[in-house]
Amino acid sequence: MPDNTIERFFGYLNWLFNPFHGLKTTEVYDLIGETSLTGNALYLNLGYWRDAATIDEASEKLALLVAERGGMGPGDTVLDCGYGFGDQDILWARKMKPEKIIGLNITHSQVERARMNVADAGLEKSIDLREGSATEMPIGDGSVDLVVSVESAFHYGSREDFFREAYRVLRPGGRLVTADIVPTKNSENPFRRMEQWISWNLVATKFNIPEENRYLVPSYDEKLSKAGFVHIDTTSIRDDVYAPLHEFLSKDRTFVGKLPPLAKMLALASFNRPAESVYAGLDYVLSCSEKP
Ligand SMILES: C[S@@+](CC[C@H](N)C(=O)[O-])C[C@H]1O[C@@H](n2cnc3c(N)ncnc32)[C@H](O)[C@@H]1O
Repeated sequence: MPDNTIERFFGYLNWLFNPFHGLKTTEVYDLIGETSLTGNALYLNLGYWRDAATIDEASEKLALLVAERGGMGPGDTVLDCGYGFGDQDILWARKMKPEKIIGLNITHSQVERARMNVADAGLEKSIDLREGSATEMPIGDGSVDLVVSVESAFHYGSREDFFREAYRVLRPGGRLVTADIVPTKNSENPFRRMEQWISWNLVATKFNIPEENRYLVPSYDEKLSKAGFVHIDTTSIRDDVYAPLHEFLSKDRTFVGKLPPLAKMLALASFNRPAESVYAGLDYVLSCSEKP
């Protein structure tokens, strides 16, 4: 992780403005480091804003929405893919009280910090955070009750490999729940279509979303079905994510204040545009399915 300011400055410069230099997913998260949107924890998600007033509340609400959708509860073995700094795992261990949470994350710097957070919370016995990929799970067949992935599956190479692995590790009757980002359906209006193209491509290039993960909800469901899942329900929750987040960030400048100068400039410029235009190409879904 670039810890000196100059190195970080040039890291951001290269990331944001050099079209010929893409970063790997782990490099993106190393660069972002602990610059979380939240104030009290280190969540790296956009939040679920229904009845939430702050980004801290919204990030927790998103984690709880995923857990509740999967029926997480006592006795469950949960596999959390892409756990960031582990805040959601600590929240679930305290509120939903599953038997065990195993986490997989590919970003080494986050794994180290997340393990420290779990140790500080005194939860090492129930939370086991590992370094590893959601597309090659070091987990036995049929050993898990619930697989969850909070705002992470769009990164995987590929999401289909993740679905296949999730199916393998789940016991019959086990569930897969994702909070995930997919593109919006192309508008008939050429100007709107241009906005959609720009917003998707900006996010996909900067956050390393592989082209093979670019498809709409019906294809998402088809791929889950092809992996063997049934009772598939993928619902857009975008109205409770992007617009309220945009409104919050335009008013509360705490997060923007944490950004290096160039990233701050880009963020401030986006606040002058309506959310519907900034996020035109991005849908946000909550998906739940079951292994028969
Ligand atoms: C946007 S962050 C979300 C973190 C966390 N779920 C949260 O809500 O705060 C995406 C996370 O996915 C992780 N990730 C990306 N690709 C992964 C993969 N193939 N396997 C496991 N984790 C991955 C990243 O390291 C990062 O922690």
